[in-house]
Order: sequence, then structure tokens, then C-alpha cells
Amino acid sequence: MPGTNIPQHVPQDLVRNFLSSHQDAMERDPFTALRYVYEGEGQDIFFDPLGARLTQPHLPGAWVLTRNADIREVLQDPVLFSSKGITGFSKLLGQDWDLIPVELDPPEHAKFRAIMNPLFSPKRINELEHDIRECASHLVRKAAQRKDCDFNEAFGRPLPVTIFVRLMGLPMEEFDTFMRWEDMVLHSMDMNVRHEGAVEIHNYLKELIAKRKLQPVDDLVSFAVKAEIDGQKLTDDEIMGICFLLFVGGLDTVAASLAFTFKYLAENPEARQRLINEPDLVASAVEEILRTHSVVVTNRIVTQDTTFRDIKMKQGDCVVCYTALGSMDPKEFENTQELILDRSPNRHLAFSTGPHRCLGSHLARREMQIAIKVWLKTIPDFWIPEGAEIKAHGGIFGLDSLPLCWD
Ligand code: HEM
Repeated sequence: MPGTNIPQHVPQDLVRNFLSSHQDAMERDPFTALRYVYEGEGQDIFFDPLGARLTQPHLPGAWVLTRNADIREVLQDPVLFSSKGITGFSKLLGQDWDLIPVELDPPEHAKFRAIMNPLFSPKRINELEHDIRECASHLVRKAAQRKDCDFNEAFGRPLPVTIFVRLMGLPMEEFDTFMRWEDMVLHSMDMNVRHEGAVEIHNYLKELIAKRKLQPVDDLVSFAVKAEIDGQKLTDDEIMGICFLLFVGGLDTVAASLAFTFKYLAENPEARQRLINEPDLVASAVEEILRTHSVVVTNRIVTQDTTFRDIKMKQGDCVVCYTALGSMDPKEFENTQELILDRSPNRHLAFSTGPHRCLGSHLARREMQIAIKVWLKTIPDFWIPEGAEIKAHGGIFGLDSLPLCWD
């Protein structure tokens, strides 16, 4: 129950039942709903009794940061704000391994980051450009044979998932199964369903890792199997930690961001036209769409009793960082509610900051840029059918479906 899940050291005047009182608004449009945190006399940092319900349901609520500067400071200070256990996935399985590198703190984190950085470097992404373009063209040509589609099914999911499935060395025929597991672990509010999804992914990856150990090929799972740190091969838990994170981090984030991108484009014909006339604007438009639709919510665990911005936090407290709040703070962004296609500078936090800054950001950006250019070339005019009800989900923010139509 909201209001009852509050540790003793949290003063009553810092408690705000934000999530429970904005649940309906969050389902309609999480980014509009989140703006309510800046309304009224609210504190910059408050304690939400439901604050960490997705990843840390065992904790009594969490501190919520609302300011870009505070979120940056926390994300850039892994000594005071640890990432250990932040996703809760291995705990969900009754096990104790880290998702790598996202649940590691320095100095271990840097060792893994160093071996993983080249996998998603700008050079590597340039090599993938042709495949991304070809896949996007194929999907949009197929969609254009009809006059309507659910964007998620026809384009938004298959594009990043096809590229990712190839990189991971997973069989394309099992696309639907992967998406079902992904929905279970990332979007269900039922812990049993999340557990079941995590077990399926874990078992599947375990088998695949064993196969690649016997016969490595040119894919990310084989990379993890062959990788060495300080002359030592990775342990089975480390290999699983890398593969599990790539599986849950790489499949859903771009698809979710594309859904919000195309909802915005469907609702804003003048923006579509501008991007068609000025294709060089697409790169900055993607940054601005990522700013106004930052889909990831992450958190950190306080490592020792401390005072942060005059607030007493205790060791073990959870601090929730909505990257969306870091990206929409009116103290940081002028006219923050406006989506300005050529906004510059644009210090959004969609990809986080600090040591855990997103490893896949170059890939994500390139996929989004190509998706916009290729779709607008084939289907320049499109809209959401009248009366369509569009619902959003949490975990990673996304849209359940996005019906689109065109002439
Ligand atoms: C628009 C799409 C994406 C968004 C918005 C996004 C966002 C993020 C965020 C906010 C973090 C940091 C989490 C934290 O600080 O706790 C992160 C980390 C990470 N992301 Fe992404 N991501 C996206 C796409 C991808 C893709 C496509 C991949 C892989 C193929 C990927 C792989 C990773 C990895 C491995 C990390 C962990 C980095 C570390 O801990 O050092 N991401 N991402």
C-alpha cells in the first residue's frame, strides 16, 4: 500500500506517492505524466513508496531524483551509488551472478567494458550500416503493400531484433519466442511471469553457450566464450552475465524508442515534411526524440550512510534515476516540452552517463536514423487511425501497439 512502505529514516515531508497516483496517466503517456513531478511545491528529491517496484520489489520504496544535475552526479559516482544487483535478474532466478557490465562497479567494470567496447564501436556500426538499411527497406516495402499496420509488428520490432539476432548468432525462426520471453521479463508486473521468462532465457542461453564452447563462430556469444581478462578465460557466470544483458538490453530498447519516434512523426506532419526536405536534420532529430522519450529507468544502491543535497540516505537505500527526467528537467533544457528538431546543445540522458553509459548507443542511433529515412522515402504520409487507443507500458517505457495507416 502506498504510504506504508517507508523506512524510519525518511521524513514524512519527503514522501510522495508519485507512481501510485499517476498510474493511469503513465499508461496513457509516461513522458507527459513524468512532467507532473515538477508541478506544485514538490521537492527535487522525494521518496516514493513504490519507487523501485520493478527491479527492487523487496526494498521499501526508493528515492526519486528529478533534476538533471542530481541524476548526473549519482550516475557518475559509482563509489557512493553502486550498480550491484540493480536489475534483479539473477535474484529472480534464485542465483547470484551479475549482469555484465551493467551490475559491476569499478574497478571490475572497466575490465569488461574494455573488452566489450570494440563490439559496438562506430567502426563496427559502419560495417553494419548496409545490413540495417537493407533490412529497413525490406520491411517498409512489405508494409507498403497494405494501407495500415501495427508499427511495432511490421517495423519497429523486426528491424532492431533482426540486426541483433544476427549479431548474437541466434536463429531468426525463433524471433516470436524471443519477443515473448522479452515481454515476460521486461514488461510484466507479475513476478511469476517475470521469473518464468527469466528461466526460459537463462536455459536457452546456457545451451547456446555450451554449443559455442564446442564450436565458436563469429557472433557475440562466441566472443564471450573466447574472451580473456588478465590472461584468464571468463567464468561460466561471467559469460552468462554478458549474454543475458545483451539479450535483454539489445532487443527491446531500440524497438521502444522507434515506437515513440513514429508516434511523434504520425502526429506531426510538418516535422515529417521537414525531415524529408532536410535529411541532414535526421541525426539531431533522433537526439531530440531520444531526449523527449528517454525509455530507460535505472537505479543505484547507496553504499554508505550519506547526505546528498541535504537529504540523509542510508546504506542500502535505492535511488531511482528516470533517464526521462534527466532529459526533460526545465532547469537544464529551455522550452523542454517542445520537441525542437535541431536543438543544440542537447545534453540528454537517454543513454545514461558515467561509467555505465550505454554500450549500444552508436548502434541504436544508426538504426533510428536509418529507420526514419527509409520509412519516409516509401511512406511519407501516415497517421494514427481515429479512435485508436494507444497504451504505454513500463519497465523500459514502450507502446503496447502503434496502429498506423496511410493512403
Ligand atoms: C535507444 C536505445 C537504447 C537506449 C535508450 C539505451 C539506454 C541505456 C542506458 C540508460 C544504459 C545505462 C544503464 C545504467 O546506467 O544503469 C544502458 C547501458 C547499456 N546498454 Fe543501452 N540503450 C539502448 C540500446 C542498446 C543496444 C542496442 C545495446 C546492445 C546491442 C545496448 C547495450 C547496453 C549495454 C551492454 C549497457 C551496459 C553498459 C555498462 O554497464 O557499461 N543498449 N543503455
